[in-house]
Amino acid sequence: MPSLSYIRSRLNEYIELDLQIESIHSPRLVEAMRYAVLGGGKRLRGCLVCATATGLGSALQTALPVAASVEYIHAYSLVHDDLPDMDDAEMRRGKPSCHKAFGPTMAILTGDALQALAFSSVATCNDLTDSQRVSCIAILGDASGWKNMVGGQAMDMELEGKEIDEEEVLSKLNDAKTGALFRACTELGAILAGQEQESKHFRLLSKFGRRLGAAFQITDDVLDVTASADELGKPIAADVASGKHNLVSHLGVEGARNKASKMLANALTILEELRLQSSVLAEIANLSVNRAS
Ligand code: IPE
Ligand code: IPE
Ligand code: MG
Ligand code: MG
Ligand code: MG
Repeated sequence: MPSLSYIRSRLNEYIELDLQIESIHSPRLVEAMRYAVLGGGKRLRGCLVCATATGLGSALQTALPVAASVEYIHAYSLVHDDLPDMDDAEMRRGKPSCHKAFGPTMAILTGDALQALAFSSVATCNDLTDSQRVSCIAILGDASGWKNMVGGQAMDMELEGKEIDEEEVLSKLNDAKTGALFRACTELGAILAGQEQESKHFRLLSKFGRRLGAAFQITDDVLDVTASADELGKPIAADVASGKHNLVSHLGVEGARNKASKMLANALTILEELRLQSSVLAEIANLSVNRAS
């Protein structure tokens, strides 16, 4: 069973090769796409796809294109998230954010292009059956679009500066903007390994992924308060400054940490039920919550 560091390096190699794109209309757009995706990022989501697929007996090679697609969706979401009209963040992954390096217009287009690339990569993935391709596209679309990630981002922006005091609303926000894409990663891994959507494995992996994603976002919100900009490679104390609502502003740092730990414990219990041969999923789960960046 491949280790996490092996999975990560194979995924990075795959993405580097996949993004050696011959520019047709705009070399600068291709440059910005490469800038946004390469040379940074923990690759947790892509690794989650691969670890799920390989943990269920699939070959790592088969999972790489789909894992790369999730990383393209994620990178696009970060490029747009950092835009002046969204979080207005100047740094990302230890370097100037995409709009700082290429300007807001090119950053918007970079996000658009990466999103489209994600879907066309899955649609043209040779190693999958037609039915697997359709399922993967449907899962990615559901998790990244209006129902989840983009919907959550809209909610996040609309709640800025408002009086919000309900934990349920904040949990829903986490689930939508971040939890759903994590859930998609484990579901995609299950599909790649030939699991039916009605199977017990698929259902449990879906639940595991969603829990993990929500715990991951709580940890991101905690780190915004407790970590340094050098550690994170992105601005700190940005959430309070822009009047964001999250479980840290609601529960305090300790309360939010406890909540993330409980969700992690719950996710690990779900994982135990699956009795997988590999421990990489548990490793990713622990890393999602117990991390310095
Ligand atoms: C940051 O995600 C955005 C959130 C959903 C909190 P990551 O912390 O996974 O970002 P990278 O990919 O490692 O840069
Ligand atoms: C971003 O959440 C979530 C998505 C991009 C979907 P944040 O705004 O908290 O992420 P960071 O802190 O900028 O990485
Ligand atoms: Mg944001
Ligand atoms: Mg942000
Ligand atoms: Mg954040």
